[in-house]
Amino acid sequence: MPTLATTVDGIKLPNPFIIGSGPPGTNANVIGKAFDEGWGAVVIKTISLDSSKVINVAPRYARPRTEKSKEIIGWQNIELISDRPFSVWLDELKMLKDKYPDGVVIASIMEEYSRDAWIEIVERVQATGVAGFELNFSCPHGLPERKMGAAMGQDNAIMGEVCRWVISAAKVPVWAKLTPNVTSIAAGAEAALSAGCHGVSAINTILCVMGVDLETLRPEPTVEGYTVPGGYSCTAVRPIALRMVKDCAEVIRDKFPGRSVSAIGGIESGKDAAQFILLGGDTVQVCTGVMKMGYDCVKQMQEELLAFMDHHKFETIADFKGRSLQYFTTHADLVRRQSEAKAAAKAKALVAKDGQWKGDDFVRQTESLAS
Ligand SMILES: Cc1cc2nc3c(=O)[nH]c(=O)nc-3n(C[C@H](O)[C@H](O)[C@H](O)COP(=O)(O)O)c2cc1C
Repeated sequence: MPTLATTVDGIKLPNPFIIGSGPPGTNANVIGKAFDEGWGAVVIKTISLDSSKVINVAPRYARPRTEKSKEIIGWQNIELISDRPFSVWLDELKMLKDKYPDGVVIASIMEEYSRDAWIEIVERVQATGVAGFELNFSCPHGLPERKMGAAMGQDNAIMGEVCRWVISAAKVPVWAKLTPNVTSIAAGAEAALSAGCHGVSAINTILCVMGVDLETLRPEPTVEGYTVPGGYSCTAVRPIALRMVKDCAEVIRDKFPGRSVSAIGGIESGKDAAQFILLGGDTVQVCTGVMKMGYDCVKQMQEELLAFMDHHKFETIADFKGRSLQYFTTHADLVRRQSEAKAAAKAKALVAKDGQWKGDDFVRQTESLAS
């Protein structure tokens, strides 16, 4: 019987399904719900020391649907990090530790470019007993205007420096959450891991413009007639996330063996999760999927992942983590492999049985049988 239990960076998880930072981990009430439903861990909504600077607008989501089935396939948000006071968060994190002693809470944190601020947030949050940190270097909207989030993640030197500050103060594992809004996510992974992070999380949302209303001529989501580009998530981003997780996993395989990847982006089923793990994910995070389907979707995800493992006789997550990375190569190699395969097939097909001799190819067929 396969098991979903896994240990990542020393953190023991009952299963690899983690609530991704966002509304599904935005207060103690919903975090408790996630544990009750069987999630392996929760990354909380990103917090900062001074929530008074965080002012959200509404509407802040825009969701494209398929024409026929009306299924939501993408999700733009212009939501900021948590607007709840830091002191309230500290109380709730302590309370969660008492109520769910085995519940794994990863604190997503973000600060401005200040060593003191980062050290302070790390020390005060880890005193509550969280299992790890996820550093948000990737929120693509609103926060970059304050040089936070993706503004840091898009500068590998600054991101590396902040990671070193955090590592100097953290007593628990640290994951850097990378932005996909860069030319090379591999370079971002390398910067964070060189700085000492235990792992990387990828991806955060992809900067987007959802669309323009052809009647009003206003782009969406419209707030008092105006908008800003937002972050795109949900199933539409999954192929991009798969590629980026693969890129991060290759950096780890080649340069930082033993470090981890928390895979994120459009995961809505156990089959999606299996693919991310095959490309190197140690864990999988789900954010928008929970907003669409509710917390109990984790049960079906677990069943599907177990069925996949059972089918392939994999006993543990480690048995298939990164297993499909070996099938990536260069285009030139694809061309070489295909021409070799075609030649081999042709040679084999020339004369296997006497009935295959052809009058107009007789000499070549004879040649193919000569030693
Ligand atoms: C409404 C919303 C709010 C989010 N807030 C945060 C956040 O506070 N911190 C963070 O690191 N990521 C945040 N994210 C990004 C998600 O954690 C995740 O990286 C991204 O949405 C892709 O995964 P998904 O397709 O499963 O949602 C948010 C996403 C959404 C949709």
